[in-house]
Amino acid sequence: MTKKILFIIGSLRTKSFNRQLAAKCAEMLKEIGNVEIKTLDYTDVPFMNQDVETALPAAVSRVRAEVQASDAIWIFTPEYNFAVPGVLKNLLDWLSRPLVPGDFSSGTAVAGKKVTFCGVGGKNATKNVRADLKKLLDFIRMEVLCGEGNGFSADAAAFQSDILTLSDEDSAILRKQAEDFLKAV
Ligand SMILES: Cc1cc2nc3c(=O)[nH]c(=O)nc-3n(C[C@H](O)[C@H](O)[C@H](O)COP(=O)(O)O)c2cc1C
Repeated sequence: MTKKILFIIGSLRTKSFNRQLAAKCAEMLKEIGNVEIKTLDYTDVPFMNQDVETALPAAVSRVRAEVQASDAIWIFTPEYNFAVPGVLKNLLDWLSRPLVPGDFSSGTAVAGKKVTFCGVGGKNATKNVRADLKKLLDFIRMEVLCGEGNGFSADAAAFQSDILTLSDEDSAILRKQAEDFLKAV
């Protein structure tokens, strides 16, 4: 059976290394199993504001529906100042809220949803953001697969060219995560 995987990229920039990592990962997942991969577009999701929660913005309803329709999620994220980028945190905050505004028994789009993550960053290879993200995803009751995921460092050549190249060793690490993830989905 085809597994529907939803990618979420924690960087909005077009040439994002994390977007490039996601493209490499999509190729691997397609080689390993029967998957349908979509990347969530959440650029139109407004800032979290409880004042607008009752008349839910259309963009929030849409991203919730896309999350609900997926079998599992893979987040690719950079680290911003040792923490989760604001755009990704904002999206997760919206996804963490009850489906029926004010009714905490109505469930959320993400509770119980399988998720894994990884990231490209500087020298510390997104270590801090991945630790933070694990706590956040546990808190919003997602089922986190593959622990704190894997981190990759963009080198000087990548920062100059805006092109991410993965070493054979890094490719093998990503592939192992893709295999473990698909086994669990
Ligand atoms: C606001 C901001 C804060 C950053 N803080 C960190 C950081 O704490 N650790 C790190 O490794 N890189 C940091 N960086 C550099 C990013 O790792 C780098 O810009 C990376 O390319 C962003 O990911 P992307 O290519 O997917 O957009 C920061 C970048 C920005 C824009």
